[in-house]
Amino acid sequence: MRVVVLLGAPGAGKGTQAPLLADRLGIPVVATGDLFRAAVRDHTPLGTQAKRYMDAGQLVPDEITIGLLLDRLGQPDAAGGAILDGFPRTGVQAQALDAVLAERDSSVAVAVLVDVPAEELVRRLSGRWICRAAGHPYHEISSPPRVTGRCDIDGSELYQRPDDQPETIHARMAQQLGALDEVIAHYREAHLLRTVDGLQPIDIVSSAVAAAVDAAGVGR
Ligand code: AP5
Repeated sequence: MRVVVLLGAPGAGKGTQAPLLADRLGIPVVATGDLFRAAVRDHTPLGTQAKRYMDAGQLVPDEITIGLLLDRLGQPDAAGGAILDGFPRTGVQAQALDAVLAERDSSVAVAVLVDVPAEELVRRLSGRWICRAAGHPYHEISSPPRVTGRCDIDGSELYQRPDDQPETIHARMAQQLGALDEVIAHYREAHLLRTVDGLQPIDIVSSAVAAAVDAAGVGR
């Protein structure tokens, strides 16, 4: 089972890079943020629980998030592995992931940190637009769609996430960056951390992510 962890602050570009890496490796993207947004959209009990944390820019509690991730990793399409976007986000989540992979005689192959300074994160999130159908991300300045308000890939409507409002962006930074540092330390200590300069153009970041994954021996 090939498990690649994509790490980064909110807005670093994880969601932009994850599908490109998935195409390269032939394994699915598992993004806890997308799973939570789907649960909110479908008005499930999990979605109702998660929504109040997401709206406040807080992390959803570990016990809820770990269960959700493990359920998703147990699905047949993830039998060969997955690219994890947005998980783990706390030291406890990182340890839970290690434990469940160990039960399957597996482990995280590499954790790639897409590193972007805070002032650029705010610029990216406040100009981001996402497509309704599949969450493809755009930016009104740096990567606009060909037709305003429509996804280039599937033609669906573009919208701004409720947690991309300025006050929630600042809450996400204030409340989530400390936990990200714990996760970075976890993978650094395990000698699995590779850092990529996320300030470069999207295609250069993709090449750097691919090189980091190749160097870790993760192939298709
Ligand atoms: P989640 O959906 O995971 O959000 P996030 O981590 O805050 O990350 P984003 O999706 O905002 O950013 P991204 O890094 O994917 O950037 P993107 O590629 O879109 O989580 C949402 C919420 O769910 C959390 O706040 C929390 O409440 C909850 N949650 C989720 N997982 C959890 C967990 N494990 N534990 C607890 N709670 C959890 O790019 C951003 C913008 O920049 C786009 O406009 C894009 O076009 C642009 N861009 C990307 N790359 C570049 C580049 N190289 N140059 C210029 N612009 C770029």
